[in-house]
Amino acid sequence: MVGGLITGKHEGVVYAGCTIKLFGTRLNTYVYVTDGLLVDTGPSRYNREYANFFRTQPVKQVVLTHFHEDHSGNAPWLEKQGIAVYVHPAAVNVCRKPARLPFYRFIFWGAREKFNPLPVGNTLKTKHKVLQVLEVPGHSPDHIALYDPAEGAIFTGDLFVTPKTRIVMRPENIPQIMQSLRVLLRYDFQTVYCGHAGVVDEGKKMIQMKLDYLENLRGEVLELYNRGLSIKVINKKLFPKTAPLTYLSGKEWASEHIIRSIIEDS
Ligand SMILES: [Fe+2]
Repeated sequence: MVGGLITGKHEGVVYAGCTIKLFGTRLNTYVYVTDGLLVDTGPSRYNREYANFFRTQPVKQVVLTHFHEDHSGNAPWLEKQGIAVYVHPAAVNVCRKPARLPFYRFIFWGAREKFNPLPVGNTLKTKHKVLQVLEVPGHSPDHIALYDPAEGAIFTGDLFVTPKTRIVMRPENIPQIMQSLRVLLRYDFQTVYCGHAGVVDEGKKMIQMKLDYLENLRGEVLELYNRGLSIKVINKKLFPKTAPLTYLSGKEWASEHIIRSIIEDS
């Protein structure tokens, strides 16, 4: 533990996580340090705790898997310490303005102030390694993963999270997520460093499990849709329980978005 964060080390990668609890919803969020590279920065609600953790680490550069505030919240603080922050080129302008968050997200994660990141290239060099930057959109349009061939590991941000996705945010695109999972599976790796699930030892197996689950789900959704059922009815059939986060977020998070994105893509 460092100042309220859960910290540890796995095969040379140091991690730090916080747990956010609100209205019965509980979510862990992890950042990782590998060879002086910090992957994601955690939410600003825990700025003091993360700043204390960062001070214990030899952070030379930062990369964000995507622009969301739980990953970018402490990037402005790191930038003020003179550390370069990299994001997908599509997110550079987004990060130059303070995030306009719905109230529940502001309470949950804290604000994300503006900062000036640099566009990431195809690779990221650290002192001893070269990490490959993989474009894996779907959770967000700017989402990247970092592949470390020497360690057989991938930092996956929010691409994995859980093998059985039951709820997503409105702009998420399930067919695109499936395609991004297929991209990951082309690489040789064992460990997944996930933004919310933490260190996943049998990472490749779990990524395959998620892809299988989504492929089955896609088949079911399209079969029901072709029988003439509406998105609402399909949603009730496949996801009869409404998650508390759906109410809390005013439907920004909902299982219905899974169904809709599958149908729209077909
Ligand atoms: Fe995210």
